Amino acid sequence: MSAPLAPLLETRGVVKHFPLHRTASEFLRGAPARAIHAVDGVSVSVAAGETLGLIGESGSGKTTLGWVIARLYPSTGGQVLFDGVDVSRLSGVHLRRWRRNVQVVFQDPVGSLDPRLRVWQIVGEPIQAQESVSRSRLRERVAELLPTVGLPSDCLDQYPHEFSGGGRQRLSLARALSLSPRLVVLDEPTSALDVAVQAQILNRLVTLQRERGFAYVLITHNVAAVRFVADRVAVMYLGQVVEVGPVRDLLEHPAHPYTKALLAAVPVADARRRRARYRVTGEIPTLVRPPPGCRFAARCPFVIDRCRVEEPPLREVPGRPGRQAACHRVEEVGDIPPETLRTQAPPLPEAAVAAP
Ligand SMILES: Nc1ncnc2c1ncn2[C@@H]1O[C@H](COP(=O)(O)OP(=O)(O)OP(=O)(O)O)[C@@H](O)[C@H]1O
Ligand code: SF4
Ligand SMILES: [Mg+2]
Repeated sequence: MSAPLAPLLETRGVVKHFPLHRTASEFLRGAPARAIHAVDGVSVSVAAGETLGLIGESGSGKTTLGWVIARLYPSTGGQVLFDGVDVSRLSGVHLRRWRRNVQVVFQDPVGSLDPRLRVWQIVGEPIQAQESVSRSRLRERVAELLPTVGLPSDCLDQYPHEFSGGGRQRLSLARALSLSPRLVVLDEPTSALDVAVQAQILNRLVTLQRERGFAYVLITHNVAAVRFVADRVAVMYLGQVVEVGPVRDLLEHPAHPYTKALLAAVPVADARRRRARYRVTGEIPTLVRPPPGCRFAARCPFVIDRCRVEEPPLREVPGRPGRQAACHRVEEVGDIPPETLRTQAPPLPEAAVAAP
């Protein structure tokens, strides 16, 4: 039997903390240094040519994880392995050379494109950073690249403001693909666009992946986009991955109570499948002093004493191949669909689950 292929990207217990500055009085009191625990022990993997969707509510650490993966932020701890090499240890010329492997498409196509530069300069910028190339050759390469993202090759001398939102996001995509990276981190690539343009961009991403074998990490709040583009999905809550697995199975049968809550909040077009909506309430713990035990305990309708003291590790979801969830009670709650939570959940603090 042959050994399974090593993933293209693997994070092992990645940590990213942002230190908080101490006030003068805190300093004088000798108060301990504090930090925002934006990403706290995340282990995920992405195979070559695969798309991993990353979902979770605002502030859960998706962008920070994406930036650590792309090495735009140094990590505070853990490992980021690319082709088995720990890129968190790379520096200098080795880091610069490695950068061509991973590119990022940012959420805001306006803010991420320099308004003073022309198309050939914007899209060609990563090439110039990596290779010594003449201006005429650079223009040729950009002109060849533009049609692959659905832009005409004769717009080389235009400025970003001359494009629509969708056009600007296509420019960002062209720039990210200019060095034929092996992995592209797409951070909310379509959230600033209207629905029709979103669909065009997502279609283009899928086509490009099929043709050129890119792997994607797709960060989004758009569950429909994840369903359309991703192979697997990881769900983040307060800096940690609470559930991961093949996209369809996970979205149809969420096992972790947080995933159930997250997906129950997503409108479902098909009335026959419409879920009774519920929302979790309760205080969201602070990322500066995350609570011991399960981070979802303060809001979870299934919480028991053990959850407040013992951190649940990611482990297999029984009967669901390829699925993992970080919940002590996954055997009991895994099969409960979101809409029945209000009647089947064990003794429930009144405030924990409330009708909207
Ligand atoms: N550069 C930074 N300095 C300090 N704190 C930061 C920084 N970047 C992010 N944070 C904090 O880290 C946490 C995670 O933020 P992050 O942007 O990664 O979340 P997110 O899941 O991408 O949210 P959203 O869905 O709103 O984009 C938040 O509490 C945020 O305030
Ligand atoms: S470990 Fe406990 S608190 Fe956390 S999600 Fe599972 S049941 Fe809820
Ligand atoms: Mg973000």
